[in-house]
Amino acid sequence: MISIALPKGRLGRAALERMGGADGACTLEGQGRRLVLEDEARNVRYFLVKPSDTAIYVEHGVADIGIAGRDVLLETRPDVYELHDLGFGRCSMAVAAPTGWHDARNAPLRIATTYPTCAREHFDRKGRQIETITLHGSVELAPLVGLGDVIVDIVETGTTLRENGLEVLEEIAPLSARLIANRSRYHFIRTAIERLTDPWRARS
Ligand code: PRP
Repeated sequence: MISIALPKGRLGRAALERMGGADGACTLEGQGRRLVLEDEARNVRYFLVKPSDTAIYVEHGVADIGIAGRDVLLETRPDVYELHDLGFGRCSMAVAAPTGWHDARNAPLRIATTYPTCAREHFDRKGRQIETITLHGSVELAPLVGLGDVIVDIVETGTTLRENGLEVLEEIAPLSARLIANRSRYHFIRTAIERLTDPWRARS
């Protein structure tokens, strides 16, 4: 049985739609609070985990493969194989600020973000000094109430920015869901992993 670390929430639902096959045999609907789902027809077991944790389960070999947002991989650099771009969950990581804000450059830029490593790498490349404030959600609120000047966060439709009077200043990286694999398990059961996952590759 292949074990898959699946992110809970919208990425996981999109993943299961693609992975459940044409008959959609396995879905999250009606599963209540169960955290392990088994699809015996495909010989697959899913672990439902927080989206930022899938790579941890895969890196430790508890799950053979997993689905992770590229944002998490860029931020945490787990020691796993990144096998394919799955083509869903497309969005971007961007720097955003209250509309009309401009950088006076007279002090380190204060950045509220869930992605302090990505933010630091980006601004190091530009030679701009920063301070980061790490948050785990509702990041768009921070500059509105004076917790930081700008944010580095995910933008999908742009609705959250628009509804809170923020605008994108620059894009840092395109993002999407990625299939990851534990390094040693991949070598051990490569054929089974490929047979299961090849149909999931992004069609581009
Ligand atoms: C994510 C992200 C943005 C929002 C972007 O938050 O952090 O806040 O989605 O999507 P949009 O451009 O379509 O508005 P999520 O909904 O996951 O909740 P969070 O604020 O708790 O992180």
